Amino acid sequence: MTMAGRDSTNHLIGLLLGTEDDWPRAFETLTRRLGAVHHRGRDHHVSTERITIEPFDLRDPVRHDLVIDRLAWWYYHPREWLKKAALVNDTYLLNNPFTFQAMEKHSAYCAMIRLGFDIPSTVLVPYKNPLDHEKWAYTADTYNLPFELDTVAERVGYPMYMKPFDGGAWRGVSRVDDVETLHRAYDQSGQMLMHLQAAVSPYDAFARSLTIGPETKIMKFRPELPMHDRYEVAHSFLEPEAGMEILTLSRTINAFFRWEFNSCEALVRGTTVKPIDYANACPDIAVTSLHYYFPWAITQLISWSVFCAVTDRRPRVDTTSREWFDVADDPDLSWHDKLGRYGLLADQYFQADEYREFCSTSLASLPALVRDWIDSPDFDQLLVETVAATYPAAEHERFLAHFRGLMSLWVEDQR
Ligand SMILES: Nc1ncnc2c1ncn2[C@@H]1O[C@H](COP(=O)(O)OP(=O)(O)O)[C@@H](O)[C@H]1O
Ligand SMILES: [Mg+2]
Repeated sequence: MTMAGRDSTNHLIGLLLGTEDDWPRAFETLTRRLGAVHHRGRDHHVSTERITIEPFDLRDPVRHDLVIDRLAWWYYHPREWLKKAALVNDTYLLNNPFTFQAMEKHSAYCAMIRLGFDIPSTVLVPYKNPLDHEKWAYTADTYNLPFELDTVAERVGYPMYMKPFDGGAWRGVSRVDDVETLHRAYDQSGQMLMHLQAAVSPYDAFARSLTIGPETKIMKFRPELPMHDRYEVAHSFLEPEAGMEILTLSRTINAFFRWEFNSCEALVRGTTVKPIDYANACPDIAVTSLHYYFPWAITQLISWSVFCAVTDRRPRVDTTSREWFDVADDPDLSWHDKLGRYGLLADQYFQADEYREFCSTSLASLPALVRDWIDSPDFDQLLVETVAATYPAAEHERFLAHFRGLMSLWVEDQR
């Protein structure tokens, strides 16, 4: 079925999932409890379904209005299904599978450098061990210029980080403080393509922001701690100017690439914002990581998905980089003016005003619904099962107490 054939008041949201079960259960439960969504004089009904992987004909109908994808970055079969759904069936996707495939961390750096953000100095070095490829041997022999790694590193400056151009989950990331570590890290990089990036060290705060549709939550992150303690519950830990720049950065990167569910990492020194990682196809939203911020994430994910489905928001897989570059290149605009323009472009792309209006009218009951559910035995059961599945038995009690405490704090803060 194409868009035109879809029943305009019954909406199916598909979840394309990996190993997670906590947030999908929260999403399913709350969407079921939401009941009819009233919009422009009509009642809409939203249901969810977990998508299975099976052979598909490129002309097959797609029953889902919208798909939240958590899998396609790693697995090609569902990735190709998403592309077919986008191009043949006009299915709305949170995150454009075309740019997520092509625009790893590297392209995200390039785009944000072009728009004027303060990305630490970054160099891409050729493979230590090029991929085995019959024809490549000739090309490499003929055209690969020999280079001095030490000289490149001196230009970047110590300390620095060596990390894969398309990284994720801290795979292959090392901090490089001297020449010996530099060579060891490069020798070990093997067939990974590596960036050398100047370290932001020391910094005052590590800000991790989660963006869903037009809304962003900036959280204080402590990468040196175990996962359950990394997000600190801290309200106003940034200078307002830095907070505003991170908010704009997050919406900008997403609107630029048509990503709608992404997280962004920036290191902050005073009012200086240094973005280091902001292309995450599958941002972590596990309750055991986000804890206090989990209800915010679920509320946004439901609100944005329901908004897109119910208002029949048109999917956009094309990008409009030129309009962003025109702002970046305008010599009459200050950095502050540019941030303002980027914010406007992002708000336009995300229909921010319409979305907020929709949340305060059609979804007015959602915040209380989420609060009551988080405060219920049903959520506690989910927490018990998630803790049991995540930690060794000897630690269950400790972690359960830890997360229960944080969730009660959130419930209290809502009152
Ligand atoms: N330029 C940098 N300055 C300081 N710390 C960095 C820098 N780059 C990476 N790191 C540290 O390494 C971690 C992993 O690097 P990141 O670029 O986020 O890769 P990944 O995509 O694997 O998360 C970051 O969370 C941060 O703690
Ligand atoms: Mg990271």
